[in-house]
Amino acid sequence: MKNYKTVISLMSGTSVDTVDACLVKIFDDLKFEIVNSYSMSYPDEIREKILELANGNANIRDVCYMNFVIGELFAKCVNLLLKKSNFNKENVDFISSHGQTVCHIPENVEIGSVSVKSTLQIGDISVISQRTGIMTVGDFRTKDMAAGGQGAPLVPFADKILFGTDKNRLIQNIGGISNVTVISKDCDIFAFDNGPGNMLIDYFVNKLFNVPYDKDGEIALKGSVDYNWLNILMNEPYYLKKPPKTTGRELFNNEYAQKIYKTAPKNKYDVISTITNLTAKVISDSYKNFVFPKTSVDEAVIGGGGAYNSAIKKYLSEYLPNLVIKTHDDFNIPNKFKECLAFAYLGYFTLLKQPNNIPSCTGASYPVVMGKISY
Ligand SMILES: Nc1ncnc2c1ncn2[C@@H]1O[C@H](COP(=O)(O)OP(=O)(O)O)[C@@H](O)[C@H]1O
Ligand SMILES: [Mg+2]
Repeated sequence: MKNYKTVISLMSGTSVDTVDACLVKIFDDLKFEIVNSYSMSYPDEIREKILELANGNANIRDVCYMNFVIGELFAKCVNLLLKKSNFNKENVDFISSHGQTVCHIPENVEIGSVSVKSTLQIGDISVISQRTGIMTVGDFRTKDMAAGGQGAPLVPFADKILFGTDKNRLIQNIGGISNVTVISKDCDIFAFDNGPGNMLIDYFVNKLFNVPYDKDGEIALKGSVDYNWLNILMNEPYYLKKPPKTTGRELFNNEYAQKIYKTAPKNKYDVISTITNLTAKVISDSYKNFVFPKTSVDEAVIGGGGAYNSAIKKYLSEYLPNLVIKTHDDFNIPNKFKECLAFAYLGYFTLLKQPNNIPSCTGASYPVVMGKISY
């Protein structure tokens, strides 16, 4: 009997850059083998619509049909990956899809004496399973929230499996938002969102240089950091809020970027250097405030698209001269597909009917089995 499940996992983060798909085998001992992967760019019109939704500028009708549009797109991504891999769908055990977050409200909202936290990931799993002919698991976050958690972060569950506990490590993802998992022998595993990752960088390079992202950090490395502006930017109260904490486009959105641009330096290269330095400073300050007082750390492992940005890496090592900084690639986990891989593990545990949230990370009252299934 085969000792693995073949999974296609699907992820799209706050950057709304690409739909990332991983064809991966997960073995009974929880080791993995990535067979192939594929990133599909969002068509401009769809990306803009998602950003409209995420920025709160859409109505319920838009949300309704976009749930199906994203489902179609995710399914297309699966079918393209299968074709590219020359892989028969009959050999795929299941799809595990994160969906696309369009709204995340981790603090309580009270209406008619009912008080709730809420979150919405769209890309309907019925559409995905119908278009691909493959059983699909998805919609993980709601269960953790219903159990009293913030519905995030969920990736630490996979971090624990992937990295083990032989060393004290910081698993630092730098996507649209930056988030870290702290795995240490000295304390319970915990995690939080540091603050902006690439989101503000993407906004400013798009506005000032008309490119979608600062490839390899080349623009940032041409300018210099304006420490006056950096100090103003560091006044954001979120950075001093104690974990557990999560954030997203609800805070660091285009409106936020427009507001901070008012105090930006004139030189457009300096804007990019400074906003890139902010990402590194926010990460390193969060270690100093919330991690190092609790545990010593042997190494940080960075991943997500930001792991390809040399300026972020340079600034991080300037702020943290004594910390060994590696990337996921050093552990044979592609930086770009790490989060995607994490959702393969989450879906794997959904089907085992075993808990896949970590209450010490999400704030949930107890472990639960997250995820819904469309057969
Ligand atoms: N080669 C690169 N150089 C610099 N930045 C990159 C590179 N590749 C990706 N990125 C950045 O990473 C972002 C996407 O990262 P990702 O981990 O997919 O984030 P998310 O989970 O928010 O979608 C892009 O928007 C871009 O800013
Ligand atoms: Mg992405």
